[in-house]
Amino acid sequence: MDILSKQLSDYLENLVPPRHPELKKMEDYAAKNNFPIIGPICGHLCYQMARTIGAKRIFELGSGYGYSTAWFAQAVKENGGGEVHHVVWDDELSKMAREHLKTLGYEGTVKYTVGEAIQTLQHSQGPFDLIFNDIDKADYPKSLPLIYDKLRVGGVLIIDNILWSGRIFDDMDQSDATKAIRETTGMVMNNDRWVASVVPMRDGLLVATKLR
Ligand SMILES: C[S@@+](CC[C@H](N)C(=O)[O-])C[C@H]1O[C@@H](n2cnc3c(N)ncnc32)[C@H](O)[C@@H]1O
Repeated sequence: MDILSKQLSDYLENLVPPRHPELKKMEDYAAKNNFPIIGPICGHLCYQMARTIGAKRIFELGSGYGYSTAWFAQAVKENGGGEVHHVVWDDELSKMAREHLKTLGYEGTVKYTVGEAIQTLQHSQGPFDLIFNDIDKADYPKSLPLIYDKLRVGGVLIIDNILWSGRIFDDMDQSDATKAIRETTGMVMNNDRWVASVVPMRDGLLVATKLR
């Protein structure tokens, strides 16, 4: 999953400021159960982006047990309060997220939905300041027009796994997920409605600002 060398990854992780023991607990669970969370390096960048734009309304597609949500919720709280939408289709993960995020003090900030994320976004009132996409990769391209509509001008889209463990470089890999990630990258990078960069940390984040 991590495309960085262990040396670089360890170095970057050590630069992340100390975090709440509950977040460390969530990281340990991911490591033991091989659950793909964004991890502290990307989590901290997500937090930074949300603080930078003063995000008060954040929508996550594919939230897992609340690890990425926690970073966004911290930013929203520090920005003066607002809401982070946690959306996942697994009831058990949603329950786990509620427990963790309650312990972290984000009750009242996080709104939970158990359901399909694109449909949930469709039925949610925009605009959002920041949208984070971490759903099944084959569905990335079809989520993009809706995300664009629901994001405010100047808002930020962050898409996870944009380097897909390097599989995007392998021409022999024509799986739906890999093709969808390549397509999504092109849809954002070659589009004058967005200004975007690929940040090659962990599995790669696409960070895009909606220009108009
Ligand atoms: C990669 S994990 C999320 C990790 C989380 N962003 C974090 O860093 O803590 C993606 C989760 O979203 C769920 N998921 C995938 N596609 C989804 C969709 N279209 N709607 C709702 N949940 C989805 C998966 O079952 C999985 O639990």
